[in-house]
Amino acid sequence: MAPFPEERMRRLRRAPWLRDLVRETTLSPADLVWPLFAVHGQGVRQEIPQMPGQHHLSVDALVKEAVEAQALGIRAVILFGIPAAKDPLGTEAWADDGIVQRAVRLLRREAPDLGVMTDVCLCEYTDHGHCGKVVDGEVDNDATLELLGRVALSHARAGADLVAPSDMMDGRVRFLREALDRHDFQQVGILAYSAKHASSFYGPFREAAHSSPRFGDRRTYQMDAGNRREAMRELALDAGEGADILMVKPALPCLDILREARDRFEHPLAAYQVSGEYALIRAAAERGWVDGDAMMLESLTAIRRAGADFVLTYFARDAARSLARR
Ligand code: PBG
Repeated sequence: MAPFPEERMRRLRRAPWLRDLVRETTLSPADLVWPLFAVHGQGVRQEIPQMPGQHHLSVDALVKEAVEAQALGIRAVILFGIPAAKDPLGTEAWADDGIVQRAVRLLRREAPDLGVMTDVCLCEYTDHGHCGKVVDGEVDNDATLELLGRVALSHARAGADLVAPSDMMDGRVRFLREALDRHDFQQVGILAYSAKHASSFYGPFREAAHSSPRFGDRRTYQMDAGNRREAMRELALDAGEGADILMVKPALPCLDILREARDRFEHPLAAYQVSGEYALIRAAAERGWVDGDAMMLESLTAIRRAGADFVLTYFARDAARSLARR
């Protein structure tokens, strides 16, 4: 290749149409999944202080917002629930009339073409805030699988398309796959939070879900943030256990892991741009320190460029609106 002055990289940057033609990474509303927080009640739409622009929504309000997002090109949502009451096992997580189950049923009825994913975990539902059953002060892996199986089945019964285990117990993908198949839910897919790091970036979510652990932390089950090779092992295990889609979380702090996962696995790959990533951009934008809209789109593009096929992001609706204006 001829060096400068024959080669000039700026030639293809001269005009918007040229830049559009040679853009390698695209971003569209169909690449985005919107996480929503369901709460009990009627007509509830309460802003989450640490996540401005995101709300606790009763199921009626949740359906309204989801339908609005769908009109903007968003194809799927993922649901989290705030239970009426918490207890040691997190029993509302698998209750037939639990908050997520009710939201799924209503979405199915009111927005049949919208993809519905559900987060499968216990931490929003347990009074101790851990993602599993606590035995002798520790989260018991195998006892937790049993409970997660109940959660996933109750979501499938309500009509969820994909269940997304975020607990990081060993063996849960196979356990859930077998439980779903045994109950004739062969068509319900598993979006596995495969490489999920123990991250400070989940802070705002835990405020929103009142799910901070009461004792200890999540480092005995979520991954150490310094580990890349271990992330590859986690991804390979979930792929082998029957995950349909693999996920890396958080997103911007893990672009290297996303890239390597993209290169190694043929599975569809998702990334979760988590609450802390959202809060950083929103907070700086509110102060007028950054252009929040541009930063939102740039961060999502970077996550896609690193290898994510789609992104779970609190920006989903805002990004869809912004993309429609361009
Ligand atoms: C449940 C769960 C969490 C998130 C998704 N599922 C919290 C956690 O693991 O502490 C975090 C999402 C976010 O920060 O946006 N285990």
